[in-house]
Amino acid sequence: MSVAGSVRAVTTLRLTEMKQRGEKIAMLTTYDYSTAKIVDAAGVDVILVGDSAANVMAGYETTLPITLDMMIYHARSVTRGAKRALVVVDLPFGTYQGNSKVALDSAIRIMKETEADAVKMEGGEEILESVQRILSAGIPVMAHLGLTPQSIHKFGTYNVRAKEEAEAEKLLRDAHLLEEAGCFAVVLEKIPAALAERVTNELKMPTIGIGAGGKVDGQVLVIHDMLGITNDFSPRFLRRYANLHDVMSEAISHYVDDVKNEDFPNEKEQY
Ligand code: KIV
Repeated sequence: MSVAGSVRAVTTLRLTEMKQRGEKIAMLTTYDYSTAKIVDAAGVDVILVGDSAANVMAGYETTLPITLDMMIYHARSVTRGAKRALVVVDLPFGTYQGNSKVALDSAIRIMKETEADAVKMEGGEEILESVQRILSAGIPVMAHLGLTPQSIHKFGTYNVRAKEEAEAEKLLRDAHLLEEAGCFAVVLEKIPAALAERVTNELKMPTIGIGAGGKVDGQVLVIHDMLGITNDFSPRFLRRYANLHDVMSEAISHYVDDVKNEDFPNEKEQY
C-alpha cells in the first residue's frame, strides 16, 4: 500500500507479466525514507527492506541479530518514501523458522505496522508450512534460495552454493514447491549461472538473481555495495555504480577543515 493507502503501481501480478513479456525486473535494497524516495523515483521496480540492514545499517557481522522491531522501523521509513515500487520486507532470523503460527504473527505485524506489500523468507521445504500459513492469510511471499545468509552458521562460508548435483537438485525441487505453494517470486543468491537459468526456465514465477548470472528475470543488489558506500566488500558479482565512500569522506573532511579554519559559516550563511 502507498502512503495514501492505495495499491502501489508495481504489484506482484505486474512482476509476473514482466517475466511473461521478457522485461527485466530491477530490485534494490533500501532501509530509510530519504533513500527510498530517490530509489523509487529512479524507476526501481522492487524495493527490498533486506535484513542486510543488520550489516550495513547496524554494523553486525551477520544478519542474525536484527529483530522484527528493527525491521519494522526500517520498513515503515521506506514505505513512507516509496510510491511506485513494490516494497518487500525480510522476515528476520528467528521469526518464522520452525513454528508457522509465530511466522504468521511476524508477517502480520510487518503488514499491519509498515504498509509494505510482501514479505521475503529464506529457505525451501523446511519452511514450507510457515510459507503456506502466511500465504493463506493473503500475504504475498517472495522466496530466497541458494546462499541464504541467515543459515551462515550451517554453511560456514559465504561461497557459491549448489555447485554439487545433490544441492542443485534440492534447490530445483524447493523452487517448484515454493511456486506451487503460491510464492510470487524467488531470489537466487550466489549459485551457478547455468542452474539459475534452468530454474528460471522451469518456473512461471520471476527469479531475481544476486550473483546468479544474467539469465534470470531480474537482479538485486545491496544499495550500499552498488553505490560504493561500503568499500571492504568486493565479490565478483558486484558492479559498483559510484564511489560514495570517497565522495562522502572528501566532503566531510572538507567540512571539518572549514569549521576548524572558521571558514564555515561565512557571512551569507548566518542570520
Ligand atoms: O537482505 C538482503 O539484502 C537480501 C538480498 C541480498 C537479496 O536478502
